[in-house]
Amino acid sequence: MSRPKVYITKPIPAEVRAYLDQHCDCTQWEEAGVAPRERLLEAIQDVEGLLTHGSLVDDELLGHAPKLRAVSTISVGYNHFDLDAMRSREVIGLHTPYVLDDTVADLVLALMLSASRRIAELDALVKAGKWQKGSSTNEQEHFGMDVHHAKLGIIGMGRIGDAIAKRAVHGFGMELRYYNRSRRPEAEERYGAQYCDLEELLRESDFVVLMTPLTPKTVHYIRKEHFELMKPTAFFINASRGQTVDEAAMIEALQSGKIRGAGLDVFDVEPVQPDNPLLKMPNVVTLPHIGSATAQTRFDMAMLAARNLVEALNGSRPQHVVKE
Ligand code: DGY
Repeated sequence: MSRPKVYITKPIPAEVRAYLDQHCDCTQWEEAGVAPRERLLEAIQDVEGLLTHGSLVDDELLGHAPKLRAVSTISVGYNHFDLDAMRSREVIGLHTPYVLDDTVADLVLALMLSASRRIAELDALVKAGKWQKGSSTNEQEHFGMDVHHAKLGIIGMGRIGDAIAKRAVHGFGMELRYYNRSRRPEAEERYGAQYCDLEELLRESDFVVLMTPLTPKTVHYIRKEHFELMKPTAFFINASRGQTVDEAAMIEALQSGKIRGAGLDVFDVEPVQPDNPLLKMPNVVTLPHIGSATAQTRFDMAMLAARNLVEALNGSRPQHVVKE
């Protein structure tokens, strides 16, 4: 029986590649990073499967791959899939939920702590030799805000939201509100979470965590009027996708003191542009989109994406087909 041809758009762990080689005829982008668009379009002309991480899958790409049946992304987010175009050509989209939930939740807590206790800012101060005698214990200049027992608002109470809630409520004794498309009775029971509307969540929370996936409906989901509702002492944390926030409105809110600070793993344009004002703000912690980036979790994601692809190409029912 002929084995399906697969193209892999970025280097993957050897064990994952060995698994794919058992089932498919694979070609892989061997250089660092992800295959550039031009090279990708040339490479996929007779492939049936694509294993990718963030490459845009749109009508143009699909037009270059008439035999394509399945695209599997090594990510839970699939905003780089044009689902209408994929549906119209009967190409299945697959992603990697579950395996990264705890890792991303850990990072969200790190962003909350880092922003509110000013970890990055004060680390830079110490390393610059600016720690003056007495200042760390006596002077307000190094004071931060407590995370423990503060009020947390989670927008987007999916699996990752749940993992954040567990840490925040059981570990830090936080009071939790959440806003989601539908109510989550199990989160209410487990964490004493209070379901509320977006406005109440923004008005009441000391930490606002945005975890909503990026879809055409959630572009600039959080805008100027939302920052205006937040407390001047509040921190805004985003580990979903940069485009879920109107970045200009967020910058204005931070500059004008409408909110106290932010912890950001994601940006409107990535890599973030060097002249982005956010990079100059001491009250903003910035990271290069590393929510799921631990060695173990990225391995698990790559393996799950490979298994998803093999299942889809074998005609068995893959579990992690993207829903919307
Ligand atoms: C995801 O899986 O969507 C993370 O953002 C890493 O890409």
